[in-house]
Amino acid sequence: MANLPVETFESAGRVVRRMGYGAMQLAGPGVFGPPKDRDAALAVLREAVASGVNHIDTSDFYGPHVTNQLIREALHPYPDDLLIVTKLGAVRGDDASWQPAMEPADLERGVHDNLRNLGLDVLDVVNLRIMGDVHKPSEGSIEKQVTALAELQHKGLVRHIGVSNATAKQIAEAQRLVEIVCVQNHYNLVNRHDDTLVDDLAKQGIAYVPFFPLGGFSPLQSSVLSQVAAKLDATPMQVALAWLLHRSPNILLIPGTSSLTHLRENLQAAHLELPDEVLAELEAAAQAHE
Ligand SMILES: NC(=O)c1ccc[n+]([C@@H]2O[C@H](COP(=O)([O-])OP(=O)(O)OC[C@H]3O[C@@H](n4cnc5c(N)ncnc54)[C@H](OP(=O)(O)O)[C@@H]3O)[C@@H](O)[C@H]2O)c1
Repeated sequence: MANLPVETFESAGRVVRRMGYGAMQLAGPGVFGPPKDRDAALAVLREAVASGVNHIDTSDFYGPHVTNQLIREALHPYPDDLLIVTKLGAVRGDDASWQPAMEPADLERGVHDNLRNLGLDVLDVVNLRIMGDVHKPSEGSIEKQVTALAELQHKGLVRHIGVSNATAKQIAEAQRLVEIVCVQNHYNLVNRHDDTLVDDLAKQGIAYVPFFPLGGFSPLQSSVLSQVAAKLDATPMQVALAWLLHRSPNILLIPGTSSLTHLRENLQAAHLELPDEVLAELEAAAQAHE
């Protein structure tokens, strides 16, 4: 298989290929429990890295523990250039619910859970996953949480800090306390609430990492996307990813999949050029969707 093109972005002091991989889909249904096919999950991780991916997104609350343990089994000892980004701020109930865990002691426990399950002495990047409103960014101070993460950084357990599900105001508040190296929010071809934020972060040289780049649990579907994909001899998912790569140089992709076929398809999107008239068609369709 062709390796990924070398288009990169410097983040967290590392050169990161813009096409990465998100591990959430490797856990069981509802991101809970073991994968339906453990060998396939391990194969997806190994092939992603063998194909040139050097940025993997995870969390110890996927499973819980499941995706981190799979990453460790598949890839440890890790290649020197692999950037593993994890997130803190939630735990899972026995009923698979997502519960906020935003107190400083919760964050410290979360760091140790990630270190243990990933088999690391220090975490490259942790994102504070803000849980004020689970489904979308909502205002509220995050000073206490960011201060707690800064202390964990000071102790040498965490190298870099990012935020997730964050408003512009919360990012600015966090930046007054620590260096923020990345922001991970919901964004894709049709969910464009962060358009201004993407551009602001690009000016600051900060990575913007969209979650649900393909639409998440209900992958994007539209007649325009399908028509454009057919015209380019590509798939709708490849067009959605290529659009994000085109959108701004600070966008790093972490599409999620549990399937080798989908992984291969998604990685190939890094080679897809979108002509101007296609970009205009996609833009018009996205505006109509708003
Ligand atoms: N910070 C946060 O709050 C947050 C929230 C959600 C996710 N994340 C991170 O963001 C990453 C990406 O988000 P995501 O995985 O939820 O959503 P996504 O990447 O938008 O889409 C994943 C879904 O699309 C399917 N899919 C993937 N490639 C496909 C293809 N080529 N053709 C058809 N279907 C395809 C997957 O199913 P298959 O498994 O069948 O391929 C899965 O159902 C996650 O893995 C996670 O690391 C972060």
